[in-house]
Amino acid sequence: MDLLEQIDRSKLPQHVAFIMDGNGRWAKKRGQIRLFGHNNGVKAVKEILNAAGNLGIKYVTVYAFSTENWSRPADEVSGIMNLLSRAIDDEIESMMKNGIRVSIIGEMERLPQKLREKVSNVIEMTKNNDKLDFVVALSYSGRWDIVEATKKIARDCADGKISPDDINSDLISKYLSTANIPDPELMIRTSGESRISNFLLYQLAYSELYFTDVLWPDFNKEELYKALISYQNRERRFGKTSEQVKK
Ligand code: IPE
Ligand code: IPE
Ligand code: MG
Repeated sequence: MDLLEQIDRSKLPQHVAFIMDGNGRWAKKRGQIRLFGHNNGVKAVKEILNAAGNLGIKYVTVYAFSTENWSRPADEVSGIMNLLSRAIDDEIESMMKNGIRVSIIGEMERLPQKLREKVSNVIEMTKNNDKLDFVVALSYSGRWDIVEATKKIARDCADGKISPDDINSDLISKYLSTANIPDPELMIRTSGESRISNFLLYQLAYSELYFTDVLWPDFNKEELYKALISYQNRERRFGKTSEQVKK
């Protein structure tokens, strides 16, 4: 049976998050520079957005560049920034056509001015699209997100807008950069690494994690279907017993 037919459309995650890893190794295997891998990674993003949209998945988050990635060699960093600028130019039309709304989570202030303008522009242009929310984690880290949320909560407490007793896990969620986005039910990481690398630390608390050896530029819709099938075969217990969940 083909993979797509094995997916139960009534049990799809609303939100799938991706750590797109392995671009460098993919390029190295081909005797190419790392940027060649990043370039090919963009194609995989397009395919995944298409496939997710067709399935009716509402939110796709991708980890495009981490806070820690700023410490890579300067030419790789600037190459990635240029690539992102170009990808926005190349893809804006198809995002409009496909009803994709773009948002960014991360430290926008650290991005080069030109890219920041393009990013603001694509967010503004796509803001009324409503088929799929495409969230790009750019200059993002989970600890940064939690630190920023904590500062805002502390300020609102000091200003008397909220009281310390109002702080609970829902309130914290609302102060994070993902305020209006449901937590991902599924997080996929490519390239064989089994770690979170400072991605959505708070939001992944109960996500199903799926790790595959496939390198990101080779990740395609079939690989997504495999991850979704694996997700659908798991029992999400949220602390309860299996018997309780089956009721
Ligand atoms: C992921 O691929 C892309 C970014 C982190 C920007 P890598 O560049 O980390 O590729 P590997 O892990 O070195 O193969
Ligand atoms: C995580 O990949 C960040 C992104 C995919 C953007 P890395 O390649 O930077 O992660 P580590 O350093 O190997 O954990
Ligand atoms: Mg990597």
